[in-house]
Amino acid sequence: MSAKIIDGKEFAANVRAQVAKHVTRLKNDHDITPGLAVVLVGEDPASQVYVRNKHKSTIEVGMNSFEHRLDADTSEVDLLALIDQLNNDPSVHGILCQLPLPEHLNEELVINSIIPEKDVDGFHISNVGLLGTGQRSMVPCTPLGCLMMLRDHHGSLSGLNAVVVGRSNIVGKPMANLLLKDSCTVTIAHSRTKDIESICRAADIVVAAVGRPEMITGDWIGEGATVIDVGINRIPHPEKEGKSKLVGDVHFESAAAKAGAITPVPGGVGPMTIACLLANTLTACSRANGLDEPEGLTA
Ligand code: GUN
Repeated sequence: MSAKIIDGKEFAANVRAQVAKHVTRLKNDHDITPGLAVVLVGEDPASQVYVRNKHKSTIEVGMNSFEHRLDADTSEVDLLALIDQLNNDPSVHGILCQLPLPEHLNEELVINSIIPEKDVDGFHISNVGLLGTGQRSMVPCTPLGCLMMLRDHHGSLSGLNAVVVGRSNIVGKPMANLLLKDSCTVTIAHSRTKDIESICRAADIVVAAVGRPEMITGDWIGEGATVIDVGINRIPHPEKEGKSKLVGDVHFESAAAKAGAITPVPGGVGPMTIACLLANTLTACSRANGLDEPEGLTA
């Protein structure tokens, strides 16, 4: 079988275009502009790139972007005071505190200080609990992006066997809960799972989120299955000395030979994360104003 390549770049561009259309309508019909506040503490180079990209994408869809860059030695009291101010600012509908935080700051405390309604990362313990009990919540961006791609490919996910490889709080667990909410039969597999290969081989859907380069090979994949690769791993380039290469958690060539559809790395799940952050900000803004949620952009 030759797999359909799910183009995440194109999919994310489409999500951003839909968000932009909703933003225009909110502005024209209700005089509301959704606003996203991003807080960055310190100068971690990767975080600076992420924050810059988020700012650019937020502006491009017509939203307000509020960037707050704080020194690496900012005290917890000062950071919490800023979050309190953003929680109470009606022009801010979504708040994201870029992780990782410097070591002296308590990540859990900071995340849970963002009010759940503005927690566009979906990391607040209330949102985790709401999703776990199948209730309306804010949903973590990467799993939401995976869900959108799966729904687009399959239509209904009801009754499908899904295996999520990886049990992180940011991807694996929320992904499993989202698939369960869409009536999949869900298995969470991880480093201690016995006979993980057979479990994956029996699945209609495999979501790989383990952070181990090319761990899942074609012989783990059932004929015609859908493979969503969340992994982004930099490895030494096999042919070009001194160069590196980005690969997923799935060995693409061998898995693509068995799968019905597969996301590549790069250009698969990656671009969906920021697109879903914008979708979440739009959802938070719609809810805050008692308006209908944007169809197709929520869980
Ligand atoms: N750092 C890397 N990815 C993320 C993310 O999705 N959200 C936040 N807040 N920080 C991150």
